[in-house]
Amino acid sequence: MKQTQMWTYICVIFLTLQSQCSACRWLDRYGTVSAESLTLLREMSGQYHENVWVDFPGTLYNLTEKAEVEDQVRFFVLTLDHIINLMDDSEHMNSAQWNLTKVKYFLEVLQRQSSELKECVVQYQKPLKKESYEIGIKRHFRTLKKILKKEKYSAHAWEQIRRAVRSHLQRMEIIANNTKKRF
Ligand SMILES: *[C@@H]1O[C@H](CO)[C@@H](O)[C@H](O)[C@H]1NC(C)=O
Ligand SMILES: *[C@@H]1O[C@H](CO)[C@@H](O)[C@H](O)[C@H]1NC(C)=O
Ligand SMILES: *[C@@H]1O[C@H](CO)[C@@H](O)[C@H](O)[C@H]1NC(C)=O
Repeated sequence: MKQTQMWTYICVIFLTLQSQCSACRWLDRYGTVSAESLTLLREMSGQYHENVWVDFPGTLYNLTEKAEVEDQVRFFVLTLDHIINLMDDSEHMNSAQWNLTKVKYFLEVLQRQSSELKECVVQYQKPLKKESYEIGIKRHFRTLKKILKKEKYSAHAWEQIRRAVRSHLQRMEIIANNTKKRF
Protein backbone atom coordinates (compact mmCIF):
# COMPACT_ATOMS: atom_id res chain seq x y z
CA MET A 1 0.00 0.00 0.00
CA LYS A 2 1.32 3.41 -0.89
CA GLN A 3 1.83 5.76 1.97
CA THR A 4 -0.62 8.40 0.73
CA GLN A 5 -3.25 5.71 0.30
CA MET A 6 -2.70 4.52 3.83
CA TRP A 7 -3.11 8.01 5.21
CA THR A 8 -6.34 8.38 3.29
CA TYR A 9 -7.70 5.24 4.94
CA ILE A 10 -6.66 6.42 8.37
CA CYS A 11 -8.37 9.75 7.78
CA VAL A 12 -11.59 8.12 6.65
CA ILE A 13 -11.68 5.84 9.69
CA PHE A 14 -10.97 8.75 11.98
CA LEU A 15 -13.70 10.94 10.49
CA THR A 16 -16.23 8.10 10.66
CA LEU A 17 -15.54 7.53 14.34
CA GLN A 18 -15.69 11.21 15.05
CA SER A 19 -19.10 11.70 13.46
CA GLN A 20 -20.48 8.75 15.42
CA CYS A 21 -19.26 10.32 18.63
CA SER A 22 -20.87 13.66 17.94
CA ALA A 23 -24.14 11.93 17.04
CA CYS A 24 -24.27 10.35 20.47
CA ARG A 25 -23.11 13.36 22.43
CA TRP A 26 -26.63 14.79 22.62
CA LEU A 27 -27.55 11.97 25.00
CA ASP A 28 -24.92 13.01 27.50
CA ARG A 29 -25.95 16.62 27.41
CA TYR A 30 -29.68 16.07 27.17
CA GLY A 31 -30.32 15.61 30.89
CA THR A 32 -28.48 18.78 31.90
CA VAL A 33 -30.15 20.97 29.32
CA SER A 34 -33.54 19.45 30.06
CA ALA A 35 -33.14 20.14 33.78
CA GLU A 36 -32.20 23.73 32.98
CA SER A 37 -35.30 24.23 30.85
CA LEU A 38 -37.58 22.67 33.49
CA THR A 39 -36.12 24.95 36.15
CA LEU A 40 -36.76 28.04 34.03
CA LEU A 41 -40.28 26.86 33.25
CA ARG A 42 -41.00 26.50 36.97
CA GLU A 43 -39.39 29.81 37.90
CA MET A 44 -41.05 31.92 35.21
CA SER A 45 -44.27 31.82 37.23
CA GLY A 46 -45.58 30.66 40.59
CA GLN A 47 -46.49 27.13 41.66
CA TYR A 48 -47.92 24.73 39.11
CA HIS A 49 -51.68 24.38 39.48
CA GLU A 50 -52.00 20.65 39.92
CA ASN A 51 -55.70 20.52 39.05
CA VAL A 52 -55.25 21.97 35.56
CA TRP A 53 -56.21 19.46 32.88
CA VAL A 54 -54.86 19.73 29.39
CA ASP A 55 -54.67 17.66 26.19
CA PHE A 56 -51.56 15.44 25.96
CA PRO A 57 -50.46 13.06 23.17
CA GLY A 58 -49.73 10.06 25.42
CA THR A 59 -50.12 7.55 22.61
CA LEU A 60 -47.48 9.33 20.54
CA TYR A 61 -45.05 9.26 23.43
CA ASN A 62 -45.69 5.56 23.97
CA LEU A 63 -44.83 4.97 20.32
CA THR A 64 -41.75 7.18 20.50
CA GLU A 65 -40.51 5.31 23.56
CA LYS A 66 -40.25 2.17 21.45
CA ALA A 67 -38.95 3.87 18.28
CA GLU A 68 -35.41 3.86 16.96
CA VAL A 69 -33.07 6.48 18.36
CA GLU A 70 -33.01 8.41 15.11
CA ASP A 71 -36.78 8.74 15.09
CA GLN A 72 -36.73 9.76 18.74
CA VAL A 73 -34.32 12.58 17.97
CA ARG A 74 -36.50 13.73 15.08
CA PHE A 75 -39.53 13.64 17.35
CA PHE A 76 -37.68 15.76 19.93
CA VAL A 77 -36.72 18.35 17.32
CA LEU A 78 -40.28 18.55 16.09
CA THR A 79 -41.71 18.89 19.59
CA LEU A 80 -39.12 21.42 20.76
CA ASP A 81 -39.79 23.60 17.72
CA HIS A 82 -43.53 23.45 18.37
CA ILE A 83 -43.00 24.46 22.02
CA ILE A 84 -40.77 27.37 20.95
CA ASN A 85 -43.37 28.48 18.45
CA LEU A 86 -46.11 28.33 21.09
CA MET A 87 -44.22 30.11 23.87
CA ASP A 88 -42.46 32.76 21.79
CA ASP A 89 -45.43 35.05 22.23
CA SER A 90 -44.56 37.57 24.95
CA GLU A 91 -46.98 40.19 23.62
CA HIS A 92 -49.87 37.90 24.59
CA MET A 93 -48.49 36.96 28.01
CA ASN A 94 -49.51 40.06 29.99
CA SER A 95 -52.35 38.43 31.90
CA ALA A 96 -50.14 35.49 32.90
CA GLN A 97 -47.71 37.88 34.63
CA TRP A 98 -44.79 35.62 33.95
CA ASN A 99 -41.22 36.73 34.29
CA LEU A 100 -40.49 37.46 30.63
CA THR A 101 -36.73 37.41 31.16
CA LYS A 102 -37.03 33.80 32.27
CA VAL A 103 -39.34 33.05 29.36
CA LYS A 104 -36.63 34.44 27.07
CA TYR A 105 -33.91 32.30 28.70
CA PHE A 106 -36.21 29.29 28.50
CA LEU A 107 -36.70 29.80 24.77
CA GLU A 108 -32.95 30.20 24.29
CA VAL A 109 -32.27 26.89 26.05
CA LEU A 110 -34.83 25.08 23.89
CA GLN A 111 -33.44 26.73 20.77
CA ARG A 112 -29.96 25.52 21.64
CA GLN A 113 -31.24 22.03 22.37
CA SER A 114 -33.11 21.94 19.08
CA SER A 115 -30.10 23.12 17.01
CA GLU A 116 -27.84 20.55 18.61
CA LEU A 117 -30.29 17.77 17.85
CA LYS A 118 -30.66 19.03 14.28
CA GLU A 119 -26.91 18.58 13.84
CA CYS A 120 -27.46 14.89 14.58
CA VAL A 121 -30.45 14.63 12.27
CA VAL A 122 -28.52 15.85 9.22
CA GLN A 123 -26.15 12.91 9.68
CA TYR A 124 -28.95 10.35 9.56
CA GLN A 125 -29.17 8.27 6.43
CA LYS A 126 -32.69 6.92 6.58
CA PRO A 127 -35.55 9.23 5.67
CA LEU A 128 -38.09 10.33 8.24
CA LYS A 129 -41.06 8.07 8.94
CA LYS A 130 -43.16 11.10 8.53
CA GLU A 131 -46.82 10.28 8.78
CA SER A 132 -46.54 8.35 12.03
CA TYR A 133 -46.08 11.25 14.38
CA GLU A 134 -45.59 14.50 12.53
CA ILE A 135 -49.31 14.90 11.93
CA GLY A 136 -50.24 13.88 15.47
CA ILE A 137 -47.86 16.30 17.13
CA LYS A 138 -48.94 19.12 14.83
CA ARG A 139 -52.58 18.50 15.69
CA HIS A 140 -51.81 18.51 19.41
CA PHE A 141 -50.05 21.87 19.28
CA ARG A 142 -52.85 23.29 17.16
CA THR A 143 -55.23 22.31 19.99
CA LEU A 144 -53.04 24.15 22.49
CA LYS A 145 -53.00 27.26 20.31
CA LYS A 146 -56.79 27.09 20.08
CA ILE A 147 -57.06 27.00 23.88
CA LEU A 148 -55.06 30.21 24.10
CA LYS A 149 -57.14 31.97 21.47
CA LYS A 150 -60.47 30.75 22.82
CA GLU A 151 -59.62 31.87 26.34
CA LYS A 152 -58.18 35.14 25.00
CA TYR A 153 -54.71 34.45 26.36
CA SER A 154 -55.96 34.40 29.95
CA ALA A 155 -53.71 33.51 32.87
CA HIS A 156 -55.58 30.20 33.18
CA ALA A 157 -54.99 29.35 29.52
CA TRP A 158 -51.27 30.04 29.87
CA GLU A 159 -51.17 27.86 32.99
CA GLN A 160 -52.63 25.03 30.91
CA ILE A 161 -49.91 25.57 28.34
CA ARG A 162 -47.21 25.58 30.99
CA ARG A 163 -48.51 22.28 32.36
CA ALA A 164 -48.55 20.71 28.90
CA VAL A 165 -45.03 21.94 28.17
CA ARG A 166 -43.83 20.55 31.49
CA SER A 167 -45.28 17.14 30.59
CA HIS A 168 -43.54 17.25 27.21
CA LEU A 169 -40.16 18.11 28.71
CA GLN A 170 -40.51 15.43 31.38
CA ARG A 171 -41.58 12.73 28.95
CA MET A 172 -38.73 13.57 26.57
CA GLU A 173 -36.29 13.39 29.46
CA ILE A 174 -37.58 9.94 30.44
CA ILE A 175 -37.11 8.76 26.85
CA ALA A 176 -33.59 10.21 26.70
CA ASN A 177 -32.74 8.52 30.01
CA ASN A 178 -34.01 5.15 28.81
CA THR A 179 -32.20 5.47 25.49
CA LYS A 180 -28.97 6.25 27.30
CA LYS A 181 -29.24 2.91 29.06
CA ARG A 182 -29.33 1.17 25.68
CA PHE A 183 -25.76 2.29 24.86
C1 LIG B 1 -48.90 4.49 27.50
O1 LIG B 1 -48.28 3.40 28.13
C2 LIG B 1 -48.53 3.30 29.52
C3 LIG B 1 -47.67 2.21 30.11
O2 LIG B 1 -47.41 1.19 29.22
C4 LIG B 1 -50.02 3.06 29.73
O3 LIG B 1 -50.30 2.98 31.10
C5 LIG B 1 -50.78 4.22 29.13
O4 LIG B 1 -52.18 4.02 29.24
C6 LIG B 1 -50.41 4.42 27.68
N1 LIG B 1 -51.03 5.67 27.22
C7 LIG B 1 -51.73 5.76 26.10
C8 LIG B 1 -52.38 7.07 25.85
O5 LIG B 1 -51.82 4.85 25.30
C1 LIG C 1 -37.03 37.81 36.45
O1 LIG C 1 -35.93 36.95 36.19
C2 LIG C 1 -34.69 37.62 36.15
C3 LIG C 1 -33.64 36.61 35.68
O2 LIG C 1 -33.58 35.49 36.48
C4 LIG C 1 -34.39 38.22 37.51
O3 LIG C 1 -33.15 38.89 37.47
C5 LIG C 1 -35.51 39.19 37.87
O4 LIG C 1 -35.31 39.66 39.18
C6 LIG C 1 -36.87 38.51 37.79
N1 LIG C 1 -37.91 39.51 37.94
C7 LIG C 1 -38.89 39.39 38.83
C8 LIG C 1 -39.90 40.48 38.83
O5 LIG C 1 -38.95 38.48 39.61
C1 LIG D 1 -32.86 11.30 34.10
O1 LIG D 1 -31.57 11.00 34.59
C2 LIG D 1 -31.01 12.01 35.39
C3 LIG D 1 -29.57 11.65 35.72
O2 LIG D 1 -29.35 10.30 35.70
C4 LIG D 1 -31.85 12.19 36.65
O3 LIG D 1 -31.34 13.21 37.46
C5 LIG D 1 -33.28 12.56 36.22
O4 LIG D 1 -34.12 12.66 37.34
C6 LIG D 1 -33.83 11.54 35.25
N1 LIG D 1 -35.10 12.06 34.75
C7 LIG D 1 -36.23 11.39 34.75
C8 LIG D 1 -37.42 12.12 34.24
O5 LIG D 1 -36.32 10.24 35.13
